[in-house]
Amino acid sequence: MKGIVLAGGLGSRLNPLTKVTNKHLLPVYNKPMIFYPIETLVKGGIKDVLLVTGGTSSGDFLRLLGNGKSLGLRSLHYAYQEGEGGIAHALGLAEHFVDGARSIVILGDNILEEDIGPYIEKFKLQESGARILLKKVADPSRFGVAEIQNGKVARIVEKPARPKTFYAVTGVYMYDGNVFEIVKKLKPSHRGELEITDVNNAYVKKGQMEYDILKGFWTDAGTFDSLLRANQLASRASEKKS
Ligand code: G1P
Repeated sequence: MKGIVLAGGLGSRLNPLTKVTNKHLLPVYNKPMIFYPIETLVKGGIKDVLLVTGGTSSGDFLRLLGNGKSLGLRSLHYAYQEGEGGIAHALGLAEHFVDGARSIVILGDNILEEDIGPYIEKFKLQESGARILLKKVADPSRFGVAEIQNGKVARIVEKPARPKTFYAVTGVYMYDGNVFEIVKKLKPSHRGELEITDVNNAYVKKGQMEYDILKGFWTDAGTFDSLLRANQLASRASEKKS
């Protein structure tokens, strides 16, 4: 299975930290942010990765990551996203790399404690469809929120003002080869972007969306508060290890 790390965007919620560099190159405790999602994939057994980036400082990723060997990758590929098309648009750029296979997508600012290998194994056993990872959070309205009925995802609502559950959809998505056909049919949302939540809801509608609930910590790092939290969690996790 192939891995896709999405690290584009302007990181405008972190201005002025992102004025001269890409959000995913900012430090999270003792490493650049982008190391964390790549390490999560490597730990889960994913060895071939495409990094989609764009905007500010995209060339710095090559200087930082090179061919990916030092992070444990077998191959690291790069794609460049022009403009601000959104997460699903960035995913669309991976079509040739994935070439009809299954893929796992991770957002470049997502930091997880857990080994996701067991969830990837469960996805491999699925006949087809998609699989997402959920996490119970205190502030669900910042995220895509999953509504669960009879053990199935019934609907995902992107950043709802009045969330119906506390289950945030984390930025780890597993897809079968049909995902690119879904992306091609998407229409831009009110913020002018192709939304990953629309991709996921297409699988929900087909009855092909499975999920797991993360036990370890999870955070994004796209706002000042979540970046601070990411630093604190990463520092604690590194203390635990040593
Ligand atoms: C994106 C997704 C959202 C998801 C989140 C996870 O939000 O749109 O559904 O819950 O990532 O990090 P963004 O960070 O782009 O606002």
